[in-house]
Amino acid sequence: MNTVTGDLSRAVGAAFEKCGFDPSIGTVTVSDRPELCQFQSNGAFRAAKEKRMAPLAAASMVAEVLNGEDFIAHAEAVKPGFINITLTDGFLCERCRQISQDPYLGVPQLGEGRTLVVDYGGPNVAKPLHVGHLRAAIIGEAVKRIASACGMKAIGDTHMGDWGLQMGLVIAQLNEEHPDWRCFSPDFDPEKESAEPIDVNSLNELYPKASQRSKTDEAFSRKAHEVTALLQSGHPGYTAVWKEIMRVSVEDLKRSYDRLNVHFELWYGESDSEKYVPRLMDILRDSGQLVYSDGAQVVHVQEERDSAPIPPVIIKKSDNSNIYATTDLATILQRRLDFSPDAIWYVVDKRQSLHFTQVFRCARKTGVLPASTELLHLGFGTMNGRDGKPYKTREGGVMQLSVLLDTVTGAAMEKLRESEFVSGSSLEDYAERVGVAALKFGDLINHRTKDYIFDIDKFLSFEGKTGVYLLYTVTRMNSILKKAGTPYSGELWPETVTTDTERELILSIIQAGEAFQHAFEDKAPNHVCECAYRIASAFSRFYHENHILTQPDPDIRRSWLALCHLSRRVLVMLLDVLAIETVENM
Ligand code: ARG
Repeated sequence: MNTVTGDLSRAVGAAFEKCGFDPSIGTVTVSDRPELCQFQSNGAFRAAKEKRMAPLAAASMVAEVLNGEDFIAHAEAVKPGFINITLTDGFLCERCRQISQDPYLGVPQLGEGRTLVVDYGGPNVAKPLHVGHLRAAIIGEAVKRIASACGMKAIGDTHMGDWGLQMGLVIAQLNEEHPDWRCFSPDFDPEKESAEPIDVNSLNELYPKASQRSKTDEAFSRKAHEVTALLQSGHPGYTAVWKEIMRVSVEDLKRSYDRLNVHFELWYGESDSEKYVPRLMDILRDSGQLVYSDGAQVVHVQEERDSAPIPPVIIKKSDNSNIYATTDLATILQRRLDFSPDAIWYVVDKRQSLHFTQVFRCARKTGVLPASTELLHLGFGTMNGRDGKPYKTREGGVMQLSVLLDTVTGAAMEKLRESEFVSGSSLEDYAERVGVAALKFGDLINHRTKDYIFDIDKFLSFEGKTGVYLLYTVTRMNSILKKAGTPYSGELWPETVTTDTERELILSIIQAGEAFQHAFEDKAPNHVCECAYRIASAFSRFYHENHILTQPDPDIRRSWLALCHLSRRVLVMLLDVLAIETVENM
């Protein structure tokens, strides 16, 4: 179904037309001043300009027509030319019925079945995930779910960094430590043998060691580069260890992502694009854009309107090796061939924006991707500590994701211990859910492009715009419905409105469509967060002011319970779109 402002814009547009104005100027938005009215239209300003009259006069004419409509309780022209609109309670209830019976629960289907690939997560294999990867996973998952809630066919790909120098470093280090391993022997036979098993803890120690060493030990660094090149050209022994490293790493990555309720449709990596490189090179060559520069093969992407220089994209270095841009371009080709996507969105740290500008321009001007496919880099800011600098461990290093998750879960556990409802075996599971919800909401409530401060006490507060407050609100809804014997599923909607707090709650529910529209257009989950908070806080006021279970009038009681029911359905759906799991009680 359409958004409520979409439907109202059409109706108000018709009123403008009746008054002799262009119907397209009747756009309606949610009121800036909810204490005065529910919706507003500012179209009279344009109408007045076109007809050379006072805006207030134009607004008055339209308001008069609107007051004759049966869905409008009150339309008023106010200085200097706004039209304030309040809808009838009958309209609000009818809207609730439509939402309740809509298969998408009122989420506008703006995606129209288009195919989307979301590239997010981007963990590097053999290196543990760190907090920088946290935002990519959290925001990416939410962006993907928003797109699919809005009707796109969304495919998430983690695009692991599994093909670069870090693999060469780790393998070179392993070779040093285990010169006797069969996979390092020249007569290793991949048909008959496999690599020695590696465990995840030792793997996690290898990369920092190797990377540190390569900075001072030149021979080792050369060796690592050599291993990387050999691996990329299919060396049997190195390929076998690489596969073992991948097996162990992916298992570990899946564990962390599962804890975060982040699930990828595709577990491809940079290595998977390797087989597309020859075809990519053909396309680039045929386009006539591939040129030699200092022995390397590059594509120039500078444009006249650029205010700063944009360096050329290096496709092959002088030693013929591929780099980050090469794998990204080959991956674009792979995605085109596999899915013919209408759009590819990259949820990656905004500090990589130059890289994406280069890659996108190159893909466009060489025809790797048709112009009709949208390419977007959805950059995000940094999670900072209280000192305003990127979040670190107490010792000053980058904090690993699993350590951060343990910290948050531990703090949630402390909080929940005070609760009378949770105990024993469910405590751990609850602490994990509450902790993760707190962390995710604390992140997603900020517009993705902004930096924010990691403040665990604030995130875990029962009050304010927090994940905990939202989960707690759902548990209150659960408890009322349970006591009344109302099942959670099914279609129920309020049929009457008797108090202001109810009306406010209904408005917050019917405006969820607008939140999705903004989130979808802006590719920003914070709009969904704000909407969820608005519903939760409207529900709290409604709940405090009305004694639902003891209400003597059966019609009012039924309508209030139906409103609880619908509020719960919409709120849980919003949280699910943010990939936040709820709990039964707390
Ligand atoms: N692995 C990269 C990193 O850790 C992120 C990958 C982002 N995605 C992409 N298609 N380049 O920085």
